[in-house]
Amino acid sequence: MDFLQLSHDRYSVRKFKDTPVEQEKIDKIIEAAMTAPTACNWQPFKVWVIQSPEAVAKVYETTPYTFGTKLFFVIGGDPKTAWTRKYDQKGFADVDATIVATQMMLEIHDLGLGTTWVGSFDEPKLKAAFPEMEGYELIAMFPTGYPADDAEPSKLHAVSKAKEELVAVL
Ligand SMILES: Cc1cc2nc3c(=O)[nH]c(=O)nc-3n(C[C@H](O)[C@H](O)[C@H](O)COP(=O)(O)O)c2cc1C
Repeated sequence: MDFLQLSHDRYSVRKFKDTPVEQEKIDKIIEAAMTAPTACNWQPFKVWVIQSPEAVAKVYETTPYTFGTKLFFVIGGDPKTAWTRKYDQKGFADVDATIVATQMMLEIHDLGLGTTWVGSFDEPKLKAAFPEMEGYELIAMFPTGYPADDAEPSKLHAVSKAKEELVAVL
């Protein structure tokens, strides 16, 4: 698919079918994560695939934005192993993890699946439920599945600021 077409077509899917996501598609989403660029290629990130009913139930306790899914991805950046810019000591863990997550989100759409980037979750509660996430900056959660037949973009999908406000040519 033409990239700009994919970029226009993708929207936050908030209603899923019950159809399970095939392992081959999960593998491709992981491949999209693993091919993402990171600062110095240090790859300071982790992706958790949350699919066992017990684990999924724990995630449901941390956010209302589940949309009935049975599959989540959680993406975290590791500040301990991320590149730091020497001029201002900015750590790039969140930047790297966000690039990873963005590639995953677009691959999910390209596979005919859907997701919503969920940032509103109880991070401390999630880490208490999954101690292996301790120490990571958890930047995104992706409830994922096949879009329901009547899934549709929210009104916000079509809202864009004016180009002059978003882009400056110097
Ligand atoms: C960093 C980030 C956090 C978000 N968090 C949530 C969330 O917690 N719940 C939700 O329903 N949507 C969330 N969204 C989805 C946005 O509301 C949505 O992307 C935006 O309104 C544009 O709509 P579209 O994705 O359909 O184009 C988030 C998106 C981003 C990029």
